[in-house]
Amino acid sequence: MTNHREPRAERGAAEPHGVVELHDVRKVHGSGEGAVTALDRVTLGFPRGTLTAIMGPSGSGKSTLLQCAAGLDRPTGGRVLLAGLDLGAQSERRRTELRRERIGFVFQAYNLVESLTAAQNVELPARFAGRRKGGTVGREEVAAALRAVGLAERAGHRPSRLSGGQQQRVALARALVTRPDVLFADEPTGALDTRTSGEVLRLLRRLVDEQAQTTVMVTHDPAAAAVADTVVFLQDGRIADRLDLDGDHARAAAAVAARMARLEA
Ligand SMILES: Nc1ncnc2c1ncn2[C@@H]1O[C@H](COP(=O)(O)OP(=O)(O)O)[C@@H](O)[C@H]1O
Ligand SMILES: [Mg+2]
Repeated sequence: MTNHREPRAERGAAEPHGVVELHDVRKVHGSGEGAVTALDRVTLGFPRGTLTAIMGPSGSGKSTLLQCAAGLDRPTGGRVLLAGLDLGAQSERRRTELRRERIGFVFQAYNLVESLTAAQNVELPARFAGRRKGGTVGREEVAAALRAVGLAERAGHRPSRLSGGQQQRVALARALVTRPDVLFADEPTGALDTRTSGEVLRLLRRLVDEQAQTTVMVTHDPAAAAVADTVVFLQDGRIADRLDLDGDHARAAAAVAARMARLEA
């Protein structure tokens, strides 16, 4: 996989600090003797229209970072800004609204509802998000989201009739139907074989290139991280390293694997 992209500086020029910014974010799980510092003073931005991969050993804080950045979890310290809005300063209700309207999330497990068709699964969050930017989220948007992931023909299928890769693509369509400012994906290819992973990764890359879909993906697979513009490495809750990639996926995968090996050594 090779592609050619605009220079990063041009794409991010209007919004230098990112759609989502973490400033000095700390997260302590639990309290007292059982307290675990999962994130320790993490400062990081996700520029609009870019794909960032978060890597790091198991337990390094990747999922916690994603949950805090997506407003699903509250940092113990520091600030998370979404399109310039301080999430911590919002009411619980407003935060939930912002999450529904502006953030998309996919997980390793697709979490599709088996009794619903692909289209109905995609429509589900749209119902909650309701109106945005003056328009309603309806049948057209659902169809467009399924087209974007290449599953227009499977709209009427139930999840069990779809392959794992297709189910993850439905989950992606569901995350994208509200046109979120940012898509967060936690190990989106973790349950898929190599070939199907490649399908999902190419799709993520295409959404970034063609629709400027800002995307943040946690992965422990160097081949997955290789499709990103930037790879951020976590270790013990801190940013240990960072790598900017140029679109040569084979070379990038080797470079990412080498950095990971150094972290795990
Ligand atoms: N809800 C929780 N309660 C207590 N500890 C947690 C919780 N979630 C994560 N942790 C701990 O925080 C650290 C980071 O976890 P996590 O963010 O899941 O890492 P990763 O996704 O990189 O594997 C780990 O030590 C983990 O055990
Ligand atoms: Mg995790």
